[in-house]
Formats: sequence, structure tokens, C-alpha cells
Amino acid sequence: MIVVVGIGADGMAGLAPASRRELARATVVYGSQRQLDLLDSEITGVRRAWPTPMLPALRTLLDGADGDVHVVASGDPLLHGVGNSLIRLHGVDAVTVLPHVSSVTLACSRVGWAVQDTEIISLVTAPPHTAVRRGGQAVVLSRDGTSPAALARLLTDTDRGDSEVTVLEQLGGPRELRRSAIAREWASRPPGDVDALNVMAVRYLPDERQGATLPDDVFAHDGQLTKQAMRAVTLAALAPRPGELLWDVGAGSGSVAIEWCRSTPGARAVAFERDAERRTRITRNAAAFGVPVEVGFDAPATFATTPPPAVIFVGGGVSQPGLLEACWDRLPAGGRLVANAVTVESEAVLAQWYSRHGGELRRFQHYRGEPVGGFTGWRAAMPVTQWVVTRR
Ligand SMILES: C[S@@+](CC[C@H](N)C(=O)[O-])C[C@H]1O[C@@H](n2cnc3c(N)ncnc32)[C@H](O)[C@@H]1O
Repeated sequence: MIVVVGIGADGMAGLAPASRRELARATVVYGSQRQLDLLDSEITGVRRAWPTPMLPALRTLLDGADGDVHVVASGDPLLHGVGNSLIRLHGVDAVTVLPHVSSVTLACSRVGWAVQDTEIISLVTAPPHTAVRRGGQAVVLSRDGTSPAALARLLTDTDRGDSEVTVLEQLGGPRELRRSAIAREWASRPPGDVDALNVMAVRYLPDERQGATLPDDVFAHDGQLTKQAMRAVTLAALAPRPGELLWDVGAGSGSVAIEWCRSTPGARAVAFERDAERRTRITRNAAAFGVPVEVGFDAPATFATTPPPAVIFVGGGVSQPGLLEACWDRLPAGGRLVANAVTVESEAVLAQWYSRHGGELRRFQHYRGEPVGGFTGWRAAMPVTQWVVTRR
């Protein structure tokens, strides 16, 4: 059995009796050096600091073990913690977890927020822009002492400079410290001495949260944008599922990749765009919504080095020789492909692929009411042909 014991910044003094008893009977205790240093002389087991990388050591933790193996972890080991990795690797029946109060609960208690109304975001392994939101509140787990300055800058760069940021260091310990500022202030004058052990409580302002499908003008674009109505039917065809990776090929402004990521937990996207200026714009649009869109280069040249997708959207370049073949080749069995075409030539390509592989072919025509003198007439957008297929 692996016994994972959560410990706070107050060390042994804050442990519940059951956690203290577990550690007292341990013959070997694994943990980060910082956590092992919190243990006092009551703990006589051999202390082993995690090596880098940590994963192989987690995998072999029980190899040759004579009895139980103990692990110390910060706070609640099942909140972005080692407890989750150990259960994934060894199964739930092989791991016992004795949780301590999490840094999220401690942070909420300091700022008086209801935990259930607070999003939890981790920057421990994710890039800082994934903690940007259009509104609401979150406790953000920092990677290190530089995370608050990085987030304050990103919030300011994405029109969220009014956001209220509280940095909470060494929560629950003797060196606990709390400082608050408006993101804009820290963007220009960041605190230079933030402890590596910190989380942030962020209220994102102004609050402009909105569900799908977003209006066109929230994206920076140069006209290369799948318009809102077409984006809505395209998202329906893409049918996002949690954790799936989308390839958005010919991404333009990245609006489809961004909506994909917003639609379901854990969704990720790679946006392929050959134009360098548009690639920069996609990166900025993704940062404004805090979504994990990686910007790839030209398609299909970079396909081979990109992780395989669950779903591919081809929003541009259908008539480019070899592009659809290259997409099809990289699509796993059960993977979905959606391709939109506006020109007669690209529509002809889709018709051919449809007759070869089946799926569904459809055509959308949207009209918008516009003034005609003192009256209103229908202005037609270009019709869009869409092929939707699941690879067998
Ligand atoms: C890998 S996560 C683990 C979270 C942990 N399982 C928990 O329940 O708090 C590490 C993150 O928690 C933060 N953290 C952990 N203990 C903390 C404390 N006492 N005060 C402030 N931040 C803390 C770290 O700075 C980092 O962002």
C-alpha cells in the first residue's frame, strides 16, 4: 500500500492525529525536499527526495517494497498533486490518501470566497496565459515566484488590467503573507520578492463572460474569420468531447480553435496558419480567452511533428493539392473531419471525397436583413459547403 499524507506549511504542528500516526510508523518517506524538511525527529523512517524526472520513480515506487511506502505531499494530495498520479499508476486500491487542507481552501478562507463559486486553475505545468479569463473569480496555483507578475502583465495586455489580484504566500505557515493590487499596477511594477510557494486569488474585471457562440468582433481579425453563424454550425459538426485535440487547419484568426477549447473541459487545439501575421493574431486571441491553442506553422509541412488529433477542421486550403490527403492520413480510426468550402473548386474537391468516403455533405446559406432605402432586404453571405465524416 502507498500512503499519501498531506502536510501544510505549518509542518507537523498542523497534522491531524491520524496523519501523524501514519508518518510515525513509516519505514520510508518520499517527498520533495521542502516537504521532507517539515518533518521532525518523531519521524524515523528513511527520507527520500523525489528525483528529477519524478514520473519513473512514481512508477516503480512499490518495487521491492517490504510493507507500506509513505509519501508526503502539500495540502490535499488529490488537488493537482502527486496523489492523482499515484492512483493513475497503481490503482485506487493500492493508494490511501490522508488529505490536509488545500491551498485553494486556505486562499478562499483568507479572501472570504465560496469555494464552489471559485474556479481552480493550475499554472504549475501550464503556460501563464491559460489563467486569463473574461470574468469570474479563480484561485490560480502559481508555478513559482514569477507567476503573479506574468499573469498581471497578461491580464493588462488582454484588457483585464482592472482585475483584482491577491497573492497569498506560505499559506498556513509562520511566514504567511498576503498582498493585493490591481493587475495594471503589478504589470508595470511587479512585486520582486514573491515566495515560490504562492497562489493567487483573482477577480477578473470587467466581467464579460459569455457562452458560445461568440460574436465576431471579440476576435481580432483581418476578415479571415469563420463568421458567428457558420462557426455555430461548424462547432456542432466538430462535436467536441472533453480532452480532445483539434487541428484547425487554415486557422485564420483562430476563432474555431478558441471556441473548441472553450466548449468542453480539457479541450486543446493546434492552429495551422501559413501567414505569420495571422499566427501572431491567433496567439493574441487565444491569450485573451485563456485557452490552450498552440500555433503551428504551415500545413501539411508540420503535420508529422504535431501530436495526432482526435478531430480535424479544414477551414481554408481545401483546394490546395494534397492537403486533404495529408489530413486524412493523420486522422486516427474513429477521428472526425469537418471541411468547409466557399469556392466552386474547393466544393468540387469535397464532393469527390464525399463520394469516396461517405459522411455527410451539406450546404449553408445565411442571409442578413439590411436596409434597402427605407425598407429591409436580405443580403446573402457566400454559401458554404461542409463535409463531415468519421474515419472508419
Ligand atoms: C502541485 S500544486 C499542489 C497543491 C496542493 N495539493 C494543495 O492542496 O494545495 C502546488 C501549488 O500549490 C501552491 N501551494 C501549496 N501549498 C501552499 C501554501 N501553503 N501557500 C501558498 N501556496 C501553496 C504552490 O505554490 C503551487 O502553486
